Amino acid sequence: MGVYAHITGWGMSVPEKTLTNDDLSKMVDTNDDWITSRTGIKERHIVNEHQSTASLAVEASIRALQVANISPAALDLIIVSTSSPEHIFPATACLVQDRIGALRAGAFDLSAACSGFIYALNIAAQCIRAGSMKTALVIGSETLSRFVDWQDRNTCILFGDGAGAFVLQASDQAGGVLSAVMRSDGSGGDLLSLPAGGSHLPTSFDTVHNGQHYIHMNGREVFRFATRVMAQATQEAVEKASLKMDDINLIIPHQANIRIIEAAARGLDFPMERVAVNVDRYGNTSTASIPLATVEALEQGRIKPGDRIVFVGFGGGLTWGAATVQWSGPFPTRPIVWPHRYRWTARIRSILRRLRRQIEGIIWGRRG
Ligand code: ACO
Repeated sequence: MGVYAHITGWGMSVPEKTLTNDDLSKMVDTNDDWITSRTGIKERHIVNEHQSTASLAVEASIRALQVANISPAALDLIIVSTSSPEHIFPATACLVQDRIGALRAGAFDLSAACSGFIYALNIAAQCIRAGSMKTALVIGSETLSRFVDWQDRNTCILFGDGAGAFVLQASDQAGGVLSAVMRSDGSGGDLLSLPAGGSHLPTSFDTVHNGQHYIHMNGREVFRFATRVMAQATQEAVEKASLKMDDINLIIPHQANIRIIEAAARGLDFPMERVAVNVDRYGNTSTASIPLATVEALEQGRIKPGDRIVFVGFGGGLTWGAATVQWSGPFPTRPIVWPHRYRWTARIRSILRRLRRQIEGIIWGRRG
């Protein structure tokens, strides 16, 4: 009997503050018409000074655990997919682990730009299918507004902040993540990059002066690449799941640009009515865009248990990928768990652990 990885919980979090195209036209030389016709974006959500990639990830995670009705202590693994991590290290996933109180979970970050959520979903599903773990939390969280040059009209109009999370659970019932493809082409890495701040070009006065700590992008080339790979990856994932495009109820693509999404649907001869689109209200939230669009589609009643769905994305790296999923919904469980209540005990536990480390440090220091 096989083991399958089902998506049993989902949640999202976006900052309250929005930035409209008209707001942007007061900051750079652009206008609502240009942005709407070239990208489909009308507004995006932007974090305030108290929010960050980890705080959005925590909110989305708690909601996903609530839907799945499981406690954070049941998690074996947390993957945070992000290109705007809290720090180079520690991993944002470890901060989430501490804040939600996931006592038994391994935690790491995954960097595959906008394709990261598909990569993370596939890795978590494979761990479950291999039998090495039972429950995983996969999060896509971004605050790219912190890495955008707000004077560069080529990039600042595109990106928004947000987070989405899925809980994956093992079951011997067939379904869940059916197939996935993950691809990359590092020869195009320079088309979309954040040049400074890593080991190749550590942050210095010069890198800051030259704006190398901001996102740099060749929009036209990324556009061409995206329209080429979206349909191709979708078809591959569907074939790998032994399905046909007619069997697919909904495609949930990475929300970068409505023109890219429409080109992919045309390439697949797939009706736009069965494609999830919310780029108009969130902009490009990178790796968070697929779970955000999924949560919205669920809220709109566009996904039912048993439906077959394709997630497909592309991004910096270059990376791209797709996954086919048979939708499950939460497993029936009782009694009701309140995952958000664990945050208080998690905070106290975290403070006590720090305190214990300090006391142990003093004792060891004296002995030395
Ligand atoms: N407002 C007004 N004019 C603008 C703006 C703006 N915000 N930005 C660029 N322009 C101008 C350009 O300067 C150019 O003028 P020129 O012809 O005088 O030189 C003209 O508009 C056309 O520019 P293009 O770059 O050719 O515009 P294009 O139709 O390609 O649209 C866009 C640009 C929207 C960036 C598009 O190329 C795109 O969406 N590319 C994909 C980007 C993407 O998805 N990136 C994220 C990948 S996912 C990840 O990993 C994070």
